[in-house]
Amino acid sequence: MEKTKMKYTLSDPDYYTEMYQVYAKKSNKYSHLLEWTENIFPKMVLQKLRERFSAETHINVLGIGTGSGEMDRKMAGIINGHFKSVRNVVVEPAEKQLAIYRSVLESDKSKFKGIDFDLRQMVFDEYREHEGEHPPKYHFINAMQSIYYIDDVNDTLRYLYASLEEGGVMLITTLSDACGFQLVWNRFPQVQDVAGPYPGTNDIRQSLLDLNIKFEENHQRLYGDITSCFQEGSKEGELIVDFFSQIIDLRGTSPELYQEVVDYMGSEQCSEKKKDGTILINSDWDAFVVYKPLSI
Ligand SMILES: C[S@@+](CC[C@H](N)C(=O)[O-])C[C@H]1O[C@@H](n2cnc3c(N)ncnc32)[C@H](O)[C@@H]1O
Repeated sequence: MEKTKMKYTLSDPDYYTEMYQVYAKKSNKYSHLLEWTENIFPKMVLQKLRERFSAETHINVLGIGTGSGEMDRKMAGIINGHFKSVRNVVVEPAEKQLAIYRSVLESDKSKFKGIDFDLRQMVFDEYREHEGEHPPKYHFINAMQSIYYIDDVNDTLRYLYASLEEGGVMLITTLSDACGFQLVWNRFPQVQDVAGPYPGTNDIRQSLLDLNIKFEENHQRLYGDITSCFQEGSKEGELIVDFFSQIIDLRGTSPELYQEVVDYMGSEQCSEKKKDGTILINSDWDAFVVYKPLSI
């Protein structure tokens, strides 16, 4: 197998969006995350913002790799309910994801009253270049399952921390080291050569410690249904395997590697098999919440 033949999913943002939305459904990701925003976000993020900034504050938010914005809009809405107004800058390279984001904003304008959304189709390094030497400051920054796609994570974290207002809060979510994605990437170095490396929870924790940035952690359990990966000819199954390997059309590019990846995804290292035949893969994730101190 020649690695030059393998194509990274992020080289085709439309393909990425299609795969991502399929797996989001199979793992009930959005409803799980919305529950998180209702139960954990108010304690770990909102309460801290309210303790540190007055209700009259115009809150600046930066969302990185927001996808179609399900979480981003929800968080902006919650914050907006407690402050004067919110300006939400969104940095997301996939046009299709932003089109979904935009259409939701259009279709429910009254719900987002008081929030000024600034959607920018670009990768984070382009945002940095665009903002130049004196980037704006934010009260809240979120990078949910996107930080590992940015080239230099250590430097990105340093930059983001510097972009936080004093008293500001930053939320970063990562894939747990025991989750199926990390296990597949660690098991198949050929995939990492094309797509990776993907920093996991331990790497992000270590980067924050090295940078002397204070944070709290929250671990969440999640499972994704990958039964269709074992159904011959299932297009959905193939997209899920591509999402886990981060290679476009892995089956067509390297049938042997495809089979190895599928077998490993179904193995007991990654998944559990239910009595009814459903195969559930570990999709656990971790949240890091950073609090920048207020100067005295
Ligand atoms: C796993 S999705 C997460 C989407 C959303 N935050 C969520 O949790 O549902 C990762 C997102 O990061 C975006 N992304 C990839 N590379 C990026 C980069 N260099 N800068 C900013 N976003 C990026 C992708 O287009 C994708 O929408």
